[in-house]
Amino acid sequence: MLVSATEMLKKAVEGHYAVAQFNINNLEWTKSVLLECEALKTPVILGVSEGAGKYMTGFKTVAAMVKAMDESLGITVPVALHLDHGSYEGAKACIEAGFTSIMFDGSSLPLEENIAKTKELIAICREKGISLEAEVGGIGGEEDGVVSTGECADPEECKQVNDLGVDMLACGIGNIHGKYPDNWEGLQFQVLEKIKAVTGNTPLVLHGGSGIPDEQIKKAIDMGVAKVNVNTECQLVFAAATRKYIEEGKDLEGKGYDPRKLLAPGAQAIRDEVKDRVAVFGSAGKA
Ligand code: 13P
Repeated sequence: MLVSATEMLKKAVEGHYAVAQFNINNLEWTKSVLLECEALKTPVILGVSEGAGKYMTGFKTVAAMVKAMDESLGITVPVALHLDHGSYEGAKACIEAGFTSIMFDGSSLPLEENIAKTKELIAICREKGISLEAEVGGIGGEEDGVVSTGECADPEECKQVNDLGVDMLACGIGNIHGKYPDNWEGLQFQVLEKIKAVTGNTPLVLHGGSGIPDEQIKKAIDMGVAKVNVNTECQLVFAAATRKYIEEGKDLEGKGYDPRKLLAPGAQAIRDEVKDRVAVFGSAGKA
């Protein structure tokens, strides 16, 4: 059964570990993440961006697919189906489609507008038992081929948005989506400390989890991060495993061209990556 992320993240804050958000955009990945999380007995959040939702022919299709897969695989661990970096319209569409958690990313809006829209969405989510993630201060990353360094959120703005009663808060602390550039300065722990001081027990979210050294992730979790988002790392291991299969000419042997065989090494690579990340985040056995 799909659940909201609220309870699992509350427990993570109390237990000083983090729940992983693995982004999904196809059937193989979803299956791999669910099976591995069940094996590890860890709660998990499946993240779906608006682009991925569109690719999978809409949020209703995604919700139906994830619900059906959760049932048919006999998954018993808590699974939240979460909109990643949602627009106001996207958030409403996901609530309608049966998502159990949404992120409203109003970080590029003027603060007053971000606050007003976040407030409105919180009221809807409360009524429906859906968790809501808000964002303050953009997360850096690659845009039009230009890699920007990670932004840092203003702790005062974090407090204002947090005080609206959000279930989790994403705030920039120098983190970046995608690959980290060689000159990246690392997470800004002094900013995290200030944000933590004004947001109390609200679970904090670390976006751009791919490529951050494990020691920095562990330190961030110790300081109040309770959800870490991972997307690029899964994409990279999937691509590498698929490349190896083809380069070894396995698609030319027997029925090696069958997508079920061709995609199997990538699916296994995702499972291995999930296992590796969950070990760092400390959520195994916490379901
Ligand atoms: P990465 O692609 O850097 O892992 O970031 C994932 C993320 O933060 C999704 O919101």
